[in-house]
Amino acid sequence: MSIPHLEITGVNMDFPTPKGPYRALENVNLKINKGEFVSIIGHSGCGKSTVLNIVAGLYQATAGGVILNGQEVTVPGPERAMVFQNHSLLPWLSSYENVELAVKQIFKGKKSKAEIKEWIEHNLSLVHMEHAMHKRPDEISGGMKQRVGIARALAMEPEVLLLDEPFGALDALTRAHLQDSVMEIQADLGNTMMMVTHDVDEAVLLSDRIVMMTNGPAATVGEILDVNIERPRDRIEVSEQETYNHCRHEVLRFLYARHGAKEEDMPKEEKEEKATVVKLASSNIEGEAEPLKAGTHG
Ligand SMILES: Nc1ncnc2c1ncn2[C@@H]1O[C@H](COP(=O)(O)OP(=O)(O)OP(=O)(O)O)[C@@H](O)[C@H]1O
Ligand SMILES: [Mg+2]
Repeated sequence: MSIPHLEITGVNMDFPTPKGPYRALENVNLKINKGEFVSIIGHSGCGKSTVLNIVAGLYQATAGGVILNGQEVTVPGPERAMVFQNHSLLPWLSSYENVELAVKQIFKGKKSKAEIKEWIEHNLSLVHMEHAMHKRPDEISGGMKQRVGIARALAMEPEVLLLDEPFGALDALTRAHLQDSVMEIQADLGNTMMMVTHDVDEAVLLSDRIVMMTNGPAATVGEILDVNIERPRDRIEVSEQETYNHCRHEVLRFLYARHGAKEEDMPKEEKEEKATVVKLASSNIEGEAEPLKAGTHG
């Protein structure tokens, strides 16, 4: 038997608060294979970012830990790149220079100056930022900053890419384009992906498995759903498949039926999704199923 690639075992996370420790995570266990795409979905505040931060080595678990290729993760490393929920660009550097900083760390001595320049420009053009690559973060929009963060992470060619709601701030078209790019890049590089998302369609389209987390405090892995859809995946074709709609339904059921958020807490599009599910359920009773709303929203 080979060693599992990435293993999260018995992770607890307590945060100190003025009222004493707050247990955000309790006994989180997850094994991820090399090259697997795993999404984490769950209600706001359940601890999704905390899980990613622990895998990144930015937070230390209170109990349990993370093992990557047989080695315990205790500090950040270049083999694990993270795209943060709120972009984290250095404000005094241009987009180009932000990517350059990461690329030089990894490829210094391995790529020539000209190759480094070409590589930075290639990754910025992947996210359609070539026109603004010499602008600083305060001169570009939130979505553009997020795109630079994605380019920076991709340019590192990390073995594990950690994505914390990477496409949340993007318009629907850019989001769809980047989702496709991420799928292509992963097919090329075979890297392992862990992505936090609130978007059910996005989770189903991109993932091999969807990890559904229970609500905090003491949040943990609730259910894990296998997405058995062949790759490469075309968003239009996939959205017409029964498996796709089944997976979508399962995630919505978990989020709203079992760990129901109060409806007024939901973002608008999720309310619409819930309405669609309710409609589906009632049309099933009458014997004429109506297909779930598919496609992207953003
Ligand atoms: N540094 C911290 N100190 C104290 N509490 C924290 C800290 N970081 C996170 N928490 C708490 O831990 C819980 C999990 O936070 P986390 O950011 O991981 O949630 P999340 O699932 O990523 O939420 P969202 O979907 O809103 O991004 C929350 O209750 C949060 O308030
Ligand atoms: Mg978060």
